[in-house]
Amino acid sequence: MVGCRASGQKRLAGKAAIVSASHGAAQAPAYTPGRCQPTTAMKRIVILISGRGSNMEALHQRCAEQGWPAQVVAVIANRPQAGGLAWAAERGIAAQCVDHKAYPEREAFDAALAAAIDAHAPDLVVLAGFMRVLGADFVRRYEGRLLNIHPSLLPAFPGLHTHRRALEAGCKAVGATVHFVTPELDHGPIVMQSVVPVLPGDDEHRLAARVLATEHVIYPLAVRWFVEGKLRVENGLVIQTDGASQVLM
Ligand code: GRF
Repeated sequence: MVGCRASGQKRLAGKAAIVSASHGAAQAPAYTPGRCQPTTAMKRIVILISGRGSNMEALHQRCAEQGWPAQVVAVIANRPQAGGLAWAAERGIAAQCVDHKAYPEREAFDAALAAAIDAHAPDLVVLAGFMRVLGADFVRRYEGRLLNIHPSLLPAFPGLHTHRRALEAGCKAVGATVHFVTPELDHGPIVMQSVVPVLPGDDEHRLAARVLATEHVIYPLAVRWFVEGKLRVENGLVIQTDGASQVLM
């Protein structure tokens, strides 16, 4: 639920190598480029953001390009100035702000947010740079259909300033984690991780940019697995039912 203000684009995407058992075009449903495939099994995705929304963009674009059986039906921000809201609205996605500042109590904010989300009847709620801590009741309401991306190799470095803390700790590799959300902050069954080497001369901004590029690869893939029904949680561990490997370097 927390993250950094990275500004890099897809610098690393070309170097990313995900070993995935079966995501060939032959298995993807037919689709019209630029639109998600409208089927009765269409999963409804609501994305929560707080800022620029580059992960939101990556998710929406990959959904359209790859013809997932899903549609981003709404983008909701907790800050009126979140840049991603305009991006979503320009693409015809319902874009709404539930301003946390209007709610002095966290419970009241959580309830208003849940009402806004539920109006879209989502199958999946995706936290994409959503920078508010959510209460246990909220999290339980969406249990099993609430995903987050966090810019560290969880369980290392939950919370803020992950890249700075990793550099201070002398880490030689960092990364990002997609996980199901549980009431414990930045904790929960891990769906996928990316691994990024720390290079000589890295500062937290360079590192954040390289990690962000990998976020744009792993988050869409994890969400695709979810909407295709390929994820199962057993004893707190995520099983990818294709047996797909998840290596990203
Ligand atoms: C990302 O680094 C994400 O991991 C973290 O916040 C950042 C959000 O970036 N939770 P963006 O808004 O998706 O561009």
